[in-house]
Amino acid sequence: MNQEHPKNNSIIIRQQRKDQHLRLGLSLPDGPGCSCFQDVLLVPEALPELSITDIDISTKFCGLNLKAPLIINALTGGTRWAAAINARLAEVAKRTGLALAVGSQRIALANPEVVYSFTIVRRINPDGIVLANLGANSSVDDAYKAVDMLAADGLQLHLNAAQELAMAEGDRSFFWSEPIGAVAQEMSVPVIAKEVGCGLSGQTARRLLELGVSAIDIGGLGGTNFIAIENCRQGKCSSPLNSWGLPTVWSLLDIMAVNPQAEICATGGLRNGLDMAKALAMGAKACGMAKPILAAVTLGGIQAGVNFVEQCLRELKTVMLLVGAKDLAALRHKTVLFGGKTWNYLQQRGWTSSQIKE
Ligand SMILES: Cc1cc2nc3c(=O)[nH]c(=O)nc-3n(C[C@H](O)[C@H](O)[C@H](O)COP(=O)(O)O)c2cc1C
Repeated sequence: MNQEHPKNNSIIIRQQRKDQHLRLGLSLPDGPGCSCFQDVLLVPEALPELSITDIDISTKFCGLNLKAPLIINALTGGTRWAAAINARLAEVAKRTGLALAVGSQRIALANPEVVYSFTIVRRINPDGIVLANLGANSSVDDAYKAVDMLAADGLQLHLNAAQELAMAEGDRSFFWSEPIGAVAQEMSVPVIAKEVGCGLSGQTARRLLELGVSAIDIGGLGGTNFIAIENCRQGKCSSPLNSWGLPTVWSLLDIMAVNPQAEICATGGLRNGLDMAKALAMGAKACGMAKPILAAVTLGGIQAGVNFVEQCLRELKTVMLLVGAKDLAALRHKTVLFGGKTWNYLQQRGWTSSQIKE
C-alpha cells in the first residue's frame, strides 16, 4: 500500500496495525458523527393480517441468495488473534446462515505465512457465502488471488481515502477508477465497492456502477470510525476530522435518488433489527454489521455472536410484521418518513421520499 516508507511494509508492522485496529475498533465508541437512523420512521400497521411465522427475510444481493439480509462485514485477518476471531465469525456465519466478508487480504498476498488466518473461514464454513476483500487499487492478478484463496463468492474492494490520510504511514494519492474498472470487468464473481465508515455519495456510486461494480456497500458515518482509530493510534484522540463523512442514512438516500436500481448494502452504525428494517425499507438489498458482531464474539464467544445475530433477525421480523410486510419486497414499498436533520438534508438535495423509493 505504501511506497514511501518501505520499512512500514514489514509484516510485523502490518500485524501490529491489524491488532491495533481490532483493539481500538472494540474500545472506541461509535461516532462522533451519527448514522441518522433516529430520523427515520416506519409507519405502523395496526391490522397486519400476518403471522410472525409468515415473514420471509431471504434476499438476493448481487446475484447471491442470502438466507437473511445481513452480512458479517469485513473485519480482519493476518495475525493469530485475527485468525481466532475469523474462526469464531465463520462459526457464527455457519450456524446462522449469514454471508461473511473477511478483512483486507493484502497482508496475505504479501506474506503467505498468514494465509491460514483467512482460509480458516472457508475451512470452518465450506458451503457458506464468503466475500474476499482488497483495497481499491488492487490489480486484476491480486483480485484473482484473493478470490481463489477463499473460493470466494464475491469480492469487496474497499475505498478508504480518509483512513489512509489519517494514517501516518498511509497512502497519499488515490487514482482508483482505473484499477476498480479493470477488476470489475475481469472478475466472474460480483465486485462490491465499499467505504469503511465515511459513506459514498450518489454521484460516486454512479461512477462506480459505470465502472462495472455489481453493488455498493455504503460504509457510512455513525458506526466504526477509522479516522478516529488512526488518530488514536497516533495518540491524538480528538480531531475535527473525526466527524468527517456522510451519515449512513444520507448516503443511502443519495445513492437511491441518483441510482434507483443500484444494489446497495447498508453498513455503518447499524446496531439492531430496527436499523436494518429502516435501511431495507429505504431500498437497501442487504445490511452489513462489523463492530457489534466483533464485540459479541470477542467478549462472549461464538454463542454470543449467534445470539446477537438471532436477536437482530427477530427484531427485523417483528418490525416487518408491525408494518404489515411479509417479505423484503413488501417492506420496500412501505412508507418511510424522515425527520430531524435528515429532512433538512432531503430538502437541500431537492428530493422527495417518493423519488427515492421509485
Ligand atoms: C477492527 C475493524 C477492522 C476492519 N477492517 C476492514 C477491512 O480490512 N476491510 C474493509 O473493507 N473494512 C474493514 N472494516 C470496516 C467494516 O467492514 C465496516 O465497513 C465498518 O466497520 C462500519 O460498520 P460498523 O459500524 O458496523 O462497524 C473494519 C472494521 C473494524 C471494526
